[in-house]
Amino acid sequence: MILKNFAVFEGIDGTGTTTQLNLLSRRFAESRSGSADVLHITCEPTGNEIGTLIRKALSGEIQYHEQTIARLFAADRAEHVYGMHGILEHLQNGKAVFSDRYLFSSLAYQGEKAGADLAAELNDKFPLPEYVFYFDIDPVSAMARVDQRAGKKEIYEKLDFQILVRSRYQKIMTDLQSSHSELQVIWIDASQSVGEISDYIWSTAKNLPKL
Ligand code: TMP
Repeated sequence: MILKNFAVFEGIDGTGTTTQLNLLSRRFAESRSGSADVLHITCEPTGNEIGTLIRKALSGEIQYHEQTIARLFAADRAEHVYGMHGILEHLQNGKAVFSDRYLFSSLAYQGEKAGADLAAELNDKFPLPEYVFYFDIDPVSAMARVDQRAGKKEIYEKLDFQILVRSRYQKIMTDLQSSHSELQVIWIDASQSVGEISDYIWSTAKNLPKL
C-alpha cells in the first residue's frame, strides 16, 4: 500500500537530510500562510520512548544485539505510523508528511547488520511512501562531514560500514523504481551545494499535499 502525500528522505550518514528538512520547512512557511496546516515533518528514530532507547543503543550507552536493534526500529516505526499523532493521522488530516528516514533505513542498515531476511520480514507490512528522496554520496565525503560535527560518533558512523550501506541503498532504490510505478524515487546527488539540493527538492515538494 502506498500512502499519498507521504515523502521520506533516505541516505547514509552525513548526506545532509536533516539540513534539507529544516530548509524545506522554512520554504513552506515562507511560501504559504498556515504551513503548519499542510505540512508535518518528522523523523526516525522518533522522540518517543522506543526511539529514545534506540538513540542510547546508537550512542553506545547501552549495548543490544543487532537482532534486538532491528526489532526496536520496527517497533518505533509501528508507533510512528499507526500511533496517536502518527503519520497516518497527519495524512488523514490533509497534510503532507516528510520523514527523515523510514523503513528503507532498516533495509539498508539492519539488512547489513542483522540480515536482509529479518530486515525485510520486519518491514514488509508497513505502508510505502509516495516519494523517496534518496541522497546519494561517496561515503568518504559523507564521513568527512560526520567527522566535522561536534560530539561523539554513533555506532554506525564508520567508513567501511557506510560503504556497505550505500551499496545496499543503491540496490534498494533501483529495485524500488522498477517494482513500484506509483512510487517516485527521486535520486539526489548529495555532493551538490545545499542550495542546489534544496531547489531540486522544492520543485517536487511545493506541489504537496495534492488532493
Ligand atoms: P540520524 O541521526 O541520521 O537520523 O540516524 C540515526 C542512525 O540510525 C543512522 O545511523 C541510521 C540508523 N538507522 C538504522 O540503522 N535503521 C533505521 O531503521 C533507522 C530509521 C535509522
